[in-house]
Amino acid sequence: MQRSKIDVILGIQWGDEGKGKIVDALSPRYDIIARFQGGPNAGHTIKFGRTTHVLHTIPSGIFHEGKVNVIGNGVLIDACIMAEEIESLRRIGIEPAERMKISDKAHLILPTHRLLDMALEQRKGERKIGSTVKGIGPAYTDKTARCGLRVGDIFLPDFAERYRQRKEEHLFQLAGMGFDVRAARIDNQELEQYEARWMEGIGQLRKFEVVPTELYLHEAMEAGKRILAEGAQGSLLDIDFGSYPFVTSSSTTASGVCVGLGVPPSAIGRVYGIFKAYCTRVGSGPFPTELFDATGETLREKGHEFGATTGRARRTGWLDLPALRYAIMINGVTDLVVMKADVLDGFPAVKAATGYKLDGRMVEGYPASGQLDQVEPQYVEMEGWQESLRQARAYEALPRAFRDYLKFIEKETAARITMVSVGPDREETLMCE
Ligand code: GDP
Ligand code: IMO
Ligand code: MG
Repeated sequence: MQRSKIDVILGIQWGDEGKGKIVDALSPRYDIIARFQGGPNAGHTIKFGRTTHVLHTIPSGIFHEGKVNVIGNGVLIDACIMAEEIESLRRIGIEPAERMKISDKAHLILPTHRLLDMALEQRKGERKIGSTVKGIGPAYTDKTARCGLRVGDIFLPDFAERYRQRKEEHLFQLAGMGFDVRAARIDNQELEQYEARWMEGIGQLRKFEVVPTELYLHEAMEAGKRILAEGAQGSLLDIDFGSYPFVTSSSTTASGVCVGLGVPPSAIGRVYGIFKAYCTRVGSGPFPTELFDATGETLREKGHEFGATTGRARRTGWLDLPALRYAIMINGVTDLVVMKADVLDGFPAVKAATGYKLDGRMVEGYPASGQLDQVEPQYVEMEGWQESLRQARAYEALPRAFRDYLKFIEKETAARITMVSVGPDREETLMCE
């Protein structure tokens, strides 16, 4: 049996590209679906038939019988949010414990991490990140500071005491920041209420198979099992390569798969880079092609660009090819997947930035994040298409103007488009291979 490779699906813009939809659509081709980073800051929407489901921590392969879903060591788990996700899956007849394994090394988001996230954002004032305030930054901080709690710890006899000590430390930090813990609400609950539900969630987690998932994945590769790694957020939110400091706190790029699942670089197979046919961003930070006019509003309305996790309106703009080229390079993207192309139906013309000017001169390569606010995107305008893409199920059925747009993207990025999504449903996906 030949050792198998791990294929990767990741967002190559600022998140919300439609990763959940594509992971779900490709799941039948795989045996194992594994999340490798991020936590409940993610909101992955899956639609089939009349069902719309949003997942935050659980991998998007959960709807397919006979597949194993893995929460890798690089992921963060909030026991309360996870319990809600489990409950909503049970309501539609899926028992996640039968289909999922959790890494003993995945870190826990404590209720007080969420308060710390709020306090840090408040103190930043105008320079706030626009975090989802799910406790991501503070929990990864504790991980790197070597004082975090991990899922494996929940089975230790002194877990309650370890929890108490971490909480005390966090309350001490919060007091130092002048943060009023009594007045604060976590998802509309006081700390003690949220904490009680969180502890119940820990009880739920104990019923799952908590294992060193890196060992499981290595055995699975030896046995030739097909594995799909599911990214969260997007490359432009990466802790190193994103528009720092307006980023998340994990490695959202392909190299994150290695640390987040415990697999060597040589194990990586295809890398699917998912992007929208335009751009969106939620939260603060530079966005060179952002539109502040009626076109931007149309994109938001037609694309239902409101966050799956926070409900916030997403900022919208034209496709940004310099950013895409940069993300393709960092990730070693082998396959491009174009999402939400149908949102551009009926536009008289579509635009894409092919380069940036800075101080009147064309920028070589990709600018430093500090310069992204000052660049002037240089646009190419193309003919739009008036037909609806939603019914198309084969490349040949697509309107000529849209096919020209796809060819233009391939030429500009020197990468191959192998999938096109023309609607939110699982079925509304075209394979172009
Ligand atoms: P993710 O975080 O990358 O999984 O993406 P989200 O779920 O946050 O956001 C993507 C949104 O676009 C969801 O509401 C999806 O149902 C929707 N969606 C995905 N693909 C398409 C598409 O091709 N066309 C349209 N119109 N909507 C899509
Ligand atoms: P999915 O997986 C879009 C953004 C937040 C904020 C910044 C930091 O659904 O694509 P954090 O909560 O990590 O401290 O927020 O990153 N952000 C996302 N934007 N999609 C996401 O996930 C995101 N997760 C975080 O809006 O700007
Ligand atoms: Mg999302």
